[in-house]
Amino acid sequence: MTDRRFGPKGWTPEHLGSLAGKTYLVTGANAGAGFEATRVFLSKGGRVMMLNRNADKSNTAIATLKQELGSDVDVAFVHMDLAALSSVREAAAEVLDKVPRIDALICNAAIAQVASQQMTVDGFESQLGVNHFGHFLLCGLLFERVEESRGRIVVVGSNAYKMGRKRIQFEDLDFDEKYSAWNAYAQSKLAQMMFAYELQRRVHAAHKNVEVQVCHPGASRTNLLMDTASTFNKIVWSMLSRLIAQSAEKGAWPEVMCATEEGLQRETYYGPTKRAQTVGPIDACPLEEVALNREAAAKLWALSEQKTSLSWSP
Ligand SMILES: NC(=O)c1ccc[n+]([C@@H]2O[C@H](COP(=O)([O-])OP(=O)(O)OC[C@H]3O[C@@H](n4cnc5c(N)ncnc54)[C@H](OP(=O)(O)O)[C@@H]3O)[C@@H](O)[C@H]2O)c1
Repeated sequence: MTDRRFGPKGWTPEHLGSLAGKTYLVTGANAGAGFEATRVFLSKGGRVMMLNRNADKSNTAIATLKQELGSDVDVAFVHMDLAALSSVREAAAEVLDKVPRIDALICNAAIAQVASQQMTVDGFESQLGVNHFGHFLLCGLLFERVEESRGRIVVVGSNAYKMGRKRIQFEDLDFDEKYSAWNAYAQSKLAQMMFAYELQRRVHAAHKNVEVQVCHPGASRTNLLMDTASTFNKIVWSMLSRLIAQSAEKGAWPEVMCATEEGLQRETYYGPTKRAQTVGPIDACPLEEVALNREAAAKLWALSEQKTSLSWSP
């Protein structure tokens, strides 16, 4: 039985006090759950640095937030395209220059169900490249600043981790053999979660002042599939999401909780707890063993260091 801590209503932003003086970094914050999380942080007095790939969308998002919450809210963006390791390096350097403390780095951005196999400029299958390798590099480059701030790293996973092949295909990482949009997305989210739990174990063993948490938004009405999925999958999801999904706002709450709440547990997966963990009160969800596989996680870590040319021992 999974431990439920937050009662029948689950965690909601009502649990938040003032976030004045706190700084949150959110990847992919111009839309969907990342945008909604930004809105919550700002509404409680926090500062947000968005890490986004599109300047126009970022400026529009910032204008919307300022119009709604007041022109003095502290929100800005740094350009970062997770599909290019050089862009992640440039963004991390800019963050280190501009952001003196990081209370939480939230790895929220993702692409999903990319219809046909596509490769990033660095030669990775696009979902693994954007969702996992890009974030791995970003976390590694910002880790010391997070630690100096006694901050957190929050990785946004997905129930997809347990729905694809449920393994990292080390022998065919890019799905050259037989590409499947669903399996490649599922692998990328499993990789993100395996990485996060491995980081959590390494940080704990090394007594570092960084908390690592893993969450998921359940099924939320966002743009996630709209740029990348096949036409068929887009139509199916746009119909299905009206019936089974919750708002993007509620989808953001688990990441806000993981960035702020005290007393969260290790090796735990936070998100909506009802209807196969797609909607409902936010709390600890069941976590399948595959995400905690230490052997695969250690192999993935070594591979990620090699692929991103980053030597990282937290
Ligand atoms: N929605 C769901 O039901 C669901 C379910 C399970 C898990 N999730 C997870 O929830 C998180 C948030 O997704 P969402 O549903 O809010 O999707 P979304 O509305 O599509 O937002 C994704 C964000 O990621 C950004 N992004 C995509 N590729 C990027 C790149 N190469 N570099 C930098 N930013 C990039 C997007 O930027 P652009 O606006 O420029 O495209 C957008 O800001 C993801 O980690 C996703 O895997 C979502």
